[in-house]
Amino acid sequence: MCGIVGFTGRRQACPILLDGLEHLEYRGYDSAGIAISDGNKDHPLHIRRVKGRLRALREMTHDGQTEQGSSGIGHTRWATHGEPTVENAHPHVSGEGRVAVVHNGIIENYQDLRVTLEKRGYVFQSQTDTETVAHLLDYYYKGDAVDAIMRTVMHLRGSFALGILFQDRPGEVWGVRRDSPLIAATSDDGAFIASDVPAILPYTRNVCYLNNMEIVHLTEDGAEFFNMDGEHIDKDFQQVQWDVEAAEKGGYAHFMLKEIHEQPKAMQDTIHPHIRDGRIVLDELGMSDEEIRAVRRIQMVACGSAWHVCMTARYVMEQMAGLPVDVDLASEFRYRNPVLEEGTLLMVVSQSGETADSLAALRYGKDHGMRTLAIVNVMGSSIAREADRVFYTSAGPEIAVATTKAYSTQLAACYMLAMHFAIVRGTMSEEDYSRHVTALLALPHQIEQLLGCENRMQWLAGKYANSRDAFFIGRGLDYASVLEGALKLKEISYIHAEAYAAGELKHGTISLIEKGSMVLAVATQKELLEKEVSNIVEVKSRGATMLGLTMEGNYAMEDQVDFTIYVPRTEDCFYPSLVVIPLQLLAYYVSLARGIDVDKPRNLAKSVTVE
Ligand code: G6P
Repeated sequence: MCGIVGFTGRRQACPILLDGLEHLEYRGYDSAGIAISDGNKDHPLHIRRVKGRLRALREMTHDGQTEQGSSGIGHTRWATHGEPTVENAHPHVSGEGRVAVVHNGIIENYQDLRVTLEKRGYVFQSQTDTETVAHLLDYYYKGDAVDAIMRTVMHLRGSFALGILFQDRPGEVWGVRRDSPLIAATSDDGAFIASDVPAILPYTRNVCYLNNMEIVHLTEDGAEFFNMDGEHIDKDFQQVQWDVEAAEKGGYAHFMLKEIHEQPKAMQDTIHPHIRDGRIVLDELGMSDEEIRAVRRIQMVACGSAWHVCMTARYVMEQMAGLPVDVDLASEFRYRNPVLEEGTLLMVVSQSGETADSLAALRYGKDHGMRTLAIVNVMGSSIAREADRVFYTSAGPEIAVATTKAYSTQLAACYMLAMHFAIVRGTMSEEDYSRHVTALLALPHQIEQLLGCENRMQWLAGKYANSRDAFFIGRGLDYASVLEGALKLKEISYIHAEAYAAGELKHGTISLIEKGSMVLAVATQKELLEKEVSNIVEVKSRGATMLGLTMEGNYAMEDQVDFTIYVPRTEDCFYPSLVVIPLQLLAYYVSLARGIDVDKPRNLAKSVTVE
């Protein structure tokens, strides 16, 4: 949800900002802009803004060569307030260019602030909430930057990560955050701020995560930090472990395809460190057996694909650990005044660890006395820091907007938690447990094998690329899988795709089925196979073109559907991890066939840090 970056140091800032923004474009790509200080406090800040992708800003600045200066801030936007136009693009300035601001987040009280500022004589150039911040800073700035920032943020409701330049302070970049992520980083050449680590990885690994309401001041000699009393604070820096290549395409046409292919390794990296002598070891989680036995109910919350993971986890956790599990969309949970019983464990699943609604749901649970456990991919993210217990997935950086490897590793984390809870609570036999551990360990290799169906999925995608609608059906765990399959297809191909519990079709949806409707049925759950075949027959007899996804050996499926895709055999509860691979590939190749920018589909952003 918008990416911000800032640099000051002993190099030209503009090319560094453009590179940084390129790595943040996954957060939004409606418009882009930069502000550069040329080092002379009598010169106005140089502002360059474009509508659309970053490449337009590259062209405008000749790859950063036209803007001379060693400090600056940059922004790539996911529009919230005001259309994606040049006027609404960041940076926003005030006081005839004395202050420039880039912002990620939403200022909820911007309308009230705007009225007050207009009374003070400020003239607004955009429809954005951010412009109020620029004017407030100008209003409060009397030569003391910390004081002006403190006074400004005290008036802001909502979420923000801000990058700030003052014309009369050349060589300095300022930042502050609340509920939107911001990191600071230092290298021999200077200092950086950014919304996320990939933006600074080509330059340094020395990173510091800002907490809420902390201010950072960058100079060419490094970074210093202040609290909201204006006092200096000490903060620790960490060394990022990823390689730069992990955030690059590495020869693949798109990040999504690369990340699909990284799934065997991501699964391996997530599962293997937790298996010792055939047993699941979750020491790092820090949950004692007593704590696990004291859990009476699980409440899962998440957004998007992570919510689909929760839908899968519900079946698995209830079946294995015998615990009742409720699943909510985080955006619903936080406002529906849920009744929370004692002994409920709140589980939040999030790749980024920054999703605004998931974070708010976590805080709601904590405020209501619940124990909390988060499954998160990004170390040091807000959800990871605020949850009582954290299970880190090891997917590595995920760049494509449509999640693939993060989803797979979240599933693996849920399986391991369910099995561990089950054995501690005595709801699973030793024999079942060992069988499941063996099957779990086999998943990375089975996914590798399945990636071999890529050509077939590409061929099928060609056949379906012109569909108007697609229906995905499944029962039980397969229903959870088709939710993800339908989302993958619709978000990157713009084909209207819906997932239905197969048994529910005849209560309305079947009226939409006509000759040529594309229906994809997933059928991997032994107990439900016959029932699902009946549903398939019902749809097929109304003229649908049927695609079946089932496990090897269930060859009877071929009699009912037009095309069949097989996944290797595993335990029933692990099929979601296999089924999703062809579904991801199908979505990817349909998107490609329709000429869509796979990694940056319209209107979407990877990290949704606003409500
Ligand atoms: C966005 C992404 C989805 C993701 C969801 C939740 O919508 O496009 O892929 O599932 O946010 O994100 P999180 O970081 O909390 O998993």
